[in-house]
Amino acid sequence: MDDIDQSQASGARAAEYYDSAWLDGVELPGTGIVGLMLGDQLHPPMVDDDGVWGSGPRWVEGARECTRRLARLAGIGPDDVVLDVGCGVGGAVRQVSAEFGCRAVGLNVSDLQLRTAAGLGGPAGRIAYLRGDAQRIPAREGAFTCAWTFNMFYHIPDKPRALREMHRVLAPGGRLAFDDWVLTRAADAADQAELRHHWSSPDWMTDAQLLAALHDAGFDLRGEPVDYTHVGEGVMRRLFTPTYDRDFAPRIAALDARWGKRMADDFRDAVEHTIDLYACGRLRYLQLVAAKR
Ligand SMILES: C[S@@+](CC[C@H](N)C(=O)[O-])C[C@H]1O[C@@H](n2cnc3c(N)ncnc32)[C@H](O)[C@@H]1O
Repeated sequence: MDDIDQSQASGARAAEYYDSAWLDGVELPGTGIVGLMLGDQLHPPMVDDDGVWGSGPRWVEGARECTRRLARLAGIGPDDVVLDVGCGVGGAVRQVSAEFGCRAVGLNVSDLQLRTAAGLGGPAGRIAYLRGDAQRIPAREGAFTCAWTFNMFYHIPDKPRALREMHRVLAPGGRLAFDDWVLTRAADAADQAELRHHWSSPDWMTDAQLLAALHDAGFDLRGEPVDYTHVGEGVMRRLFTPTYDRDFAPRIAALDARWGKRMADDFRDAVEHTIDLYACGRLRYLQLVAAKR
């Protein structure tokens, strides 16, 4: 991993969002209330499992399963050197290196999350972290065999550029392992605006735009994208709110006398909005693997 250029890439709006220590005293600084629910896995547990969705303490288990299944889809193994673009607090970096034997580097714009990640340890000698922006990855051409991006692509302002960067840092034949939520052509400007309001992100691509951007950046899909939208419109729709209200909302409300209840309500509103979009065919949740052409 000595061949990685440690130069600083420019920050982003996301850095400001994740760096703000707006919840002092949480166990995983930089993760806010999401870490309180999902530990070091900062993505929803998109598994078709009533047992997971019906029990808050099991959400993290579902989120880990999502990490594992993308690693399997990408065929990650001991010979791989994985770059996790937008690595949060390193949940996938630690998990894929421990379970699949690869080396893994986490890239993130958030200093606070990187400090938390470094403090959480992991397989000695096989993991590292790098500060930088997905739109200008501070690594040399061909340094990785797999670029991994998990529930973060919606944050990136210039998505085609980030895809070209991931392509550049991949070795010949390298794979992109991708997980994110994308709009469908049925979504309109009001849906975009409400998503932006809830999740502090610039915009969401449609599924068709994503596939075109992957092709234009020099990637060929390896198999069909795997679609987990049925989780959003099914078990998540039935069980998110009762489980959240029982297992998490009271804890979040108790975190701060003035703002706690507001934070708990805002998060419920945000997730319920995404569930509505899944249910009316305007949002999809995809995992896919593409190979560098
Ligand atoms: C919702 S979190 C997901 C974290 C992680 N992938 C996971 O699933 O646990 C989004 C992450 O993307 C990072 N991020 C956002 N924009 C970025 C950018 N332009 N370059 C690098 N990282 C970015 C954030 O700092 C945060 O760590």
